[in-house]
Amino acid sequence: MRPNRPRQGGVHKPKKSGVAGLTRRSRQSHTWTMVASSSVVAITISLAAWAYATSSSQSAPQTEIANATTSLPPQAVVVDPRSFAVLGINGPFRQSSFTEFFNPTNTTPPFFQVFHPDFLQILGPTGTIRAVAANPTFAFAHEAPIWVPDTDEVFFASNDGGALGMSDIDHNNQVSKISLKEVAAAIKTAGHGTAPVNVSVTKLDLPEAIQMTNGGTGPFFGNLILVNSGRGSLPPSVALVNPNPPHNTTVLLDNFFGRQFNSLNDVKIRPGTNRLFFTDVTYGFLNHFRPLPLLPNQVYRLDPDTKVLRVVADGFDKCNGIAFSHDGKTAFVSDTGANAGFLGNNQTEPATIYAFDVDPKTEAFTNRRVFAYVDTGIADGLQLDANDNLYAGCGDGVQVWNAEGTLLGKFFLGTTSANLVFAGDKRLVIMAETAIYFAEIAAKANKLSFP
Ligand SMILES: *[C@@H]1O[C@H](CO)[C@@H](O)[C@H](O)[C@H]1NC(C)=O
Ligand SMILES: *[C@@H]1O[C@H](CO)[C@@H](O)[C@H](O)[C@H]1NC(C)=O
Ligand SMILES: *[C@@H]1O[C@H](CO)[C@@H](O)[C@H](O)[C@H]1NC(C)=O
Ligand SMILES: *[C@@H]1O[C@H](CO)[C@@H](O)[C@H](O)[C@H]1NC(C)=O
Repeated sequence: MRPNRPRQGGVHKPKKSGVAGLTRRSRQSHTWTMVASSSVVAITISLAAWAYATSSSQSAPQTEIANATTSLPPQAVVVDPRSFAVLGINGPFRQSSFTEFFNPTNTTPPFFQVFHPDFLQILGPTGTIRAVAANPTFAFAHEAPIWVPDTDEVFFASNDGGALGMSDIDHNNQVSKISLKEVAAAIKTAGHGTAPVNVSVTKLDLPEAIQMTNGGTGPFFGNLILVNSGRGSLPPSVALVNPNPPHNTTVLLDNFFGRQFNSLNDVKIRPGTNRLFFTDVTYGFLNHFRPLPLLPNQVYRLDPDTKVLRVVADGFDKCNGIAFSHDGKTAFVSDTGANAGFLGNNQTEPATIYAFDVDPKTEAFTNRRVFAYVDTGIADGLQLDANDNLYAGCGDGVQVWNAEGTLLGKFFLGTTSANLVFAGDKRLVIMAETAIYFAEIAAKANKLSFP
């Protein structure tokens, strides 16, 4: 997915509604700033009250929340839903999910925006987030993040056809990697605090068959799985890539019974099956680097050995990210219909994550229901943690829901994240176009490497 990037600094821009509105706004903003106060006492009191109020709900046991009151990570800001449920007749309402962020405390990113006490279990008492690589002029870190445990490296693709992607119908995008050993060393050298560091980004030299990579997962039998959008007449494809030099490649699929796909977007392996599930969508056309689409936007299943191929879900506006629960029984697919490339954004169209049951026999996705609708931008790449909390790259960073679909909190970047990946337990690597963020938290990883 190649979203139009929300304007920088568009922090909860208030409605322009005259002098009365202005007065009301500043009072409201003052109240929220108080909630964000760095006074440990204030935070502890507010969380204690929160724990009391939520103890009768279906959330975590009160003891855990009570313990969390003594251990809020320094970069966390609590935004109790009760503090903004009523904005008032002249309240600071948002007009746009694409150009205005929801940041009522006006906190400077990056930070953890906490809506529910359970988010503190994910962050842990000492969670941190910082930028670890940045290039303001090049969207080098867009999607396809894959962690390779053997070398402790994360691979990813640059933006294909969108803002600052340096790629178009005449120029391929690039796949690169960073070393998390180098990240750890840079953080150690930087000492205390969460100031950004800037590790080296190494571009891979890949064969011509790999065009406009947009999705990735694995490792699968030790290889990266890349899904590629294609470029011009060069076909979209699903490919295995050796993560080590010479990065030799095996293309697994590049057509549907002779027709080229539209522009393949994202991919996951369904746990327990070794089968690849991937999305196809019209963004290559909508970003001027692919011809007119020939197929509906839909989700496919490929058996990499027999090459048996079938459609498992359709009926989307623009299907995009995909993920499975750890038992493989639930599938999640994001629909980014609200972003239509050169046709523009339309916030009355989907920015929605759907959940499905995976039929045990056919593996078709059934019983479609809304899992979450996102408040900022669109939900793009999807990942889960070991507790089946769902993480999505969104217009303001990474948003996290529990398995019931309640928004727990955000890794608030103030800019678009299109995808993210756990690098083993307690380490989250977040793609943010012109930067990569690294969060050291308490949550454990979902399994992505197979068999
Ligand atoms: C909370 O703290 C108490 C007292 O330190 C401890 O006994 C208990 O195990 C803690 N509970 C959790 C869930 O961490
Ligand atoms: C990080 O280093 C790269 C070169 O490796 C450079 O292009 C980039 O501008 C640096 N980023 C920052 C924020 O200094
Ligand atoms: C890369 O080449 C090696 C050696 O020929 C081969 O064993 C391996 O399967 C290749 N990997 C891919 C992804 O093509
Ligand atoms: C946005 O989408 C709605 C629903 O499809 C449509 O009625 C409306 O015309 C669209 N608006 C724009 C500006 O394209």
